[in-house]
Amino acid sequence: MRRIALPDEMPHNGLGDAAMARARSTENVVVGDEIVRERLSARVVHWAVAVTFFVCLFTGLPIWTPYLGFLATLFGGLHVCRLLHPWAGIAFAAASVLMFVQWVSQMRLTPADREFLTPRGLLRYFQYRNDDVEVGKYNGGQKLLFWAAALGAAGLLATGLVMWFPLAFGQRLREASYLLHDVAFSLFFAMIIGHIYLGTAAEPGTLRSMVRGTVTKSWAQLHHPRWYREVTSDQPKR
Ligand code: HEM
Repeated sequence: MRRIALPDEMPHNGLGDAAMARARSTENVVVGDEIVRERLSARVVHWAVAVTFFVCLFTGLPIWTPYLGFLATLFGGLHVCRLLHPWAGIAFAAASVLMFVQWVSQMRLTPADREFLTPRGLLRYFQYRNDDVEVGKYNGGQKLLFWAAALGAAGLLATGLVMWFPLAFGQRLREASYLLHDVAFSLFFAMIIGHIYLGTAAEPGTLRSMVRGTVTKSWAQLHHPRWYREVTSDQPKR
C-alpha cells in the first residue's frame, strides 16, 4: 500500500487533481484526505456492465409483455428491440466476463464475511449498527452481489442463446429456457435495484468511488475499517 506525499501548502483542488491522476491507473493509495478505491479501467468495465444491462432490460421488457410495450419507442419499435436484444445480451455477457476477471481475486468470501451474511449480521448492517472492524475493501454483501451477478449473467447468456437459436435445441430445453430467463432477469433486476439504492441514497459518498474513483477517509473508516487500516498503515503519525 502506498501513499502520495503532499506538501502541506498544496491547495485543495491540487489534492483533487492528484487523486484523479492516481485514480486513472492505480488504487488503494491515499492522496491527501482521499483514498483511491477504483482505478479507471475498473470503473469503465463497471459502467459498461451497467449500460448494457439496462439496454438488455429496456429492449427485453417490451418483448416480454405488451403492458411494457411503450418502452419499445425508446429504441424505434418492437422490431428493433427484437433485433437489438440478443446483441445487447452478448455485449452484457462480454462486459460481465471482464468484470469477473478484474474483481474475482478480491471477492473470495472469508469467515468474517460469512458472519456478516448471517441474519444477525445483515440486521445490524441495515440498522446501521454494524461495528465489525474486520470489514475489508468489500463487505460480505458486496461479494455476494458479485457472485450472484456472475451466476446471473452466465444463466441469462445460456438461456438466451437457446431462445436465439431455438432449432438447435430440444423442446424441453427451450421451454425451460423461457422460464429460467424470465426468473433470472426478475431476480437480477430486484438485486440491482437494491445495489443502486445502497450505492447511492443509502450510503452517501459511495457513488463517487465509481465516478471519480476516490472516497473520503472518513467514508472508508466508517464502511470498510480493515481496508482503511491497511491502506493508511504506512501514514506518518501527526
Ligand atoms: C445505475 C446503475 C448502477 C449504479 C449506480 C452502481 C453503483 C455502484 C457503486 C457506487 C459501486 C461501488 C461500491 C463501493 O465502492 O463500495 C458499485 C460496485 C459494483 N457494482 Fe454497480 N452500480 C450500477 C449497476 C450495476 C450493475 C447493472 C451491475 C451488474 C452486474 C453492477 C455490479 C457491481 C459489482 C459486482 C460491484 C462491486 C461490488 C460492490 O461494490 O457492490 N452494478 N456499483
